[in-house]
Amino acid sequence: MDAKIALLPGDGIGPDVVAEGVKVLKAVAERFGHTFEFSEQLVGGIAIDETGDPLPEATLAACRSADAVLLGAVGGPKWSDPRAAVRPEQGLLGLRSGLGLFANIRPVKVYPALVSASTLKPEIVDGVDMIIVRELTGGLYFGKPQGPLDTPQGRAAVDTMYYTAAEIERLLRVSFDLARSRRKKLASVDKANVLATSRLWREVAHEVARDYPDVVLEDVLVDACAMYLVRRPAAYDVIATENTFGDILSDEAAMLAGSMGMLPSASLGETTDHGAARRFGLYEPIHGSAPDIAGQGIANPLATILSCAMMLRWSFGLEREANAVEVAVEAVLNAGYRCRDIATPGGIIVGTVEMGDRVVAQIAMGWT
Ligand code: IPM
Ligand code: MG
Repeated sequence: MDAKIALLPGDGIGPDVVAEGVKVLKAVAERFGHTFEFSEQLVGGIAIDETGDPLPEATLAACRSADAVLLGAVGGPKWSDPRAAVRPEQGLLGLRSGLGLFANIRPVKVYPALVSASTLKPEIVDGVDMIIVRELTGGLYFGKPQGPLDTPQGRAAVDTMYYTAAEIERLLRVSFDLARSRRKKLASVDKANVLATSRLWREVAHEVARDYPDVVLEDVLVDACAMYLVRRPAAYDVIATENTFGDILSDEAAMLAGSMGMLPSASLGETTDHGAARRFGLYEPIHGSAPDIAGQGIANPLATILSCAMMLRWSFGLEREANAVEVAVEAVLNAGYRCRDIATPGGIIVGTVEMGDRVVAQIAMGWT
């Protein structure tokens, strides 16, 4: 297969971890006989510094002409003044909306070797294997009006939570399809006891459910879900929720896996009919730019490497290749190698580059 991949390393540890992802993709190309062509683009704070725009037109154009995008992270203290006219995060939000990436897939899997890396008791996190499907182009992040207001009562600000039934339905269909391919359980998370958008969400969920009689649908209020995630997380299979709830719940769920440094994500748009095996997507670790450890060579690249596995599976239909990457990661963990964020007693601490090298070596060995 020939594929074009746009690389958006971004800020902080983004460039460190994207470099390891590229190494792994090259190892996969080598072993399985594919050709991946990479082109690097600016996004986020570095794009503000170099062009004044967190999402330069050239970046968006390069993403549109690619088959998939690998993104590192955006943001950092240098650009976080709340009064600044442009912010790195606008680059990320512009990518999501500009590329129509409405479904954010965040798998949370606890590796047996890392059970003790979680701050929760082993018996609680053991066996956790869920996918959070977060709506990514609606809700509070994009609703208008948004911004500061001058009122007779003094300063104020407004954000708007807005959803159409069609936006809710397409997200739920992705979620039901996923649940159908797994343990057939879907938790639809909302705040229907307070919010009108949530009542619409719940109504649509039950309409869509009629097409999926084999999937068990459960409505869960978001506050209760936050509690259940630390009380009985292994009970969840697929969780579908709106943008802001998904942002918050996915960071919480990341802690089940021991560290944000382990969690990959895929952001997908509508399926296009040019070849069922290909679906455009943007792949990124969920951990963010971690400016405190940028450039020190200690960031965990596994979330990015696992995001590359998701790219192989979701955008290129390369299931065997995706498995090879995931099995390689698990083998490296089972052999005791750890970055600092997932240190466990008796583990061998390695840096970003060595972790990447170890995964590449496993892939090259070709056991899977
Ligand atoms: C995420 C991040 C982003 C979000 C930020 C960086 C804008 O927290 O991908 O979860 O809130 O969506
Ligand atoms: Mg977040």
